[in-house]
Amino acid sequence: MIYFDNSATTKMYPEALDTYLKVNEKIFGNPSSLHQLGNMAEALLKQSRKQIADLLGVKTDEVFFTSGGTESDNWAIKGTAMEKRAAGKHMIASSVEHPAVTRTMEQLEMLGFEITYLPVNDRGVVSVADLEQALRKDTILVSIMAINNEVGSIQPIKEIGALLEEYPWVHFHVDAVQAAGESNPIIQHPRIDLLSLSAHKFHGPKGVGILYKKHGKRIAPLLTGGGQESGMRSTTENVGGIAAMSKALRMTLEASEENTKQERLIRDKLAAFLSAYEDVHVFSPEDGASHILCFAMKGVRGEVMVHAFENEGIFISTTSACSSKKNDVPYTLGSMGVNPAWSRCAVRISLAGENTEAEAEAFMEHFRTLHKKFKKIQ
Ligand SMILES: Cc1ncc(COP(=O)(O)O)c(C=O)c1O
Repeated sequence: MIYFDNSATTKMYPEALDTYLKVNEKIFGNPSSLHQLGNMAEALLKQSRKQIADLLGVKTDEVFFTSGGTESDNWAIKGTAMEKRAAGKHMIASSVEHPAVTRTMEQLEMLGFEITYLPVNDRGVVSVADLEQALRKDTILVSIMAINNEVGSIQPIKEIGALLEEYPWVHFHVDAVQAAGESNPIIQHPRIDLLSLSAHKFHGPKGVGILYKKHGKRIAPLLTGGGQESGMRSTTENVGGIAAMSKALRMTLEASEENTKQERLIRDKLAAFLSAYEDVHVFSPEDGASHILCFAMKGVRGEVMVHAFENEGIFISTTSACSSKKNDVPYTLGSMGVNPAWSRCAVRISLAGENTEAEAEAFMEHFRTLHKKFKKIQ
């Protein structure tokens, strides 16, 4: 089996899985309980928060645990909307955000908020000048992802951070769900107020994530109830998941340089190979993320390509796991101006550090055969 679908989800590190199992077996108490088992869970929670804060280079009271990237995005956006609605109802996002951001913004539009979606160039990147033009007195939030999940374009987060120094009243949210192994440090600029991460994208468990919220920046809670997470996010904490996430984040950051190098080697090799076919188009920009390669073969729909590779034991995906079962045109490619006839054929290879050159060779071998087969049918 060759697993090239790491942007959809990653395989857990055995060490993180071990932590998850051990904690759920032995330290299964509720951190809010007064007894010994509760105290142990509370201590582990505190220790995990400290480790994650240290890894991110932030303070412990700036780290909040969530159920994943979608919740972190929803909370950053809706929490800002609720908290700052008296100050303004205008928000800005890129047109290539994950649906966890865009669908949330659409909900807010129905409640009277106004959203500006910034266009992207043919490499899937927003322009800082466009953002500057869009900023207003009543803008309360700018939400721009670090790395796009469909094609891997890298957004100019540092430059946006620098621009937003001039707009201190605006919350700056970064969806860094695809960037945990890639950008080190993950919090690329001190101006970032809110940042979303999801454990299952960096070899941790599913159903657990992080929202970094800068000290002093106010957002309303999304989940109200028993007052966990300093009253900001109620529900009994997923202690096993959080401890495992903490381990996975440490391992990811420790290996990030080596992994990024390995991913880039494979990605560049595959990109060069695919680009040599005149009926194949590579959409990922050369200067994009090391782990994402999006391409299409003319006339072969994405799902057909995915299943053809699956039959050979190679797992890739249509451009994002969320839209793969919906028959949608990929939103990023649409925003990049790619013709729908091409973008419906798009597939995504997404890598992790454990992928090998031998796997890339095997992929190329199968592609040669499949290409001939598809040409014959056409
Ligand atoms: C950029 C981005 N944001 C948010 C999410 C949602 O994360 P989760 O699956 O943890 O809810 C994803 C998942 O693919 C993503 O790629």
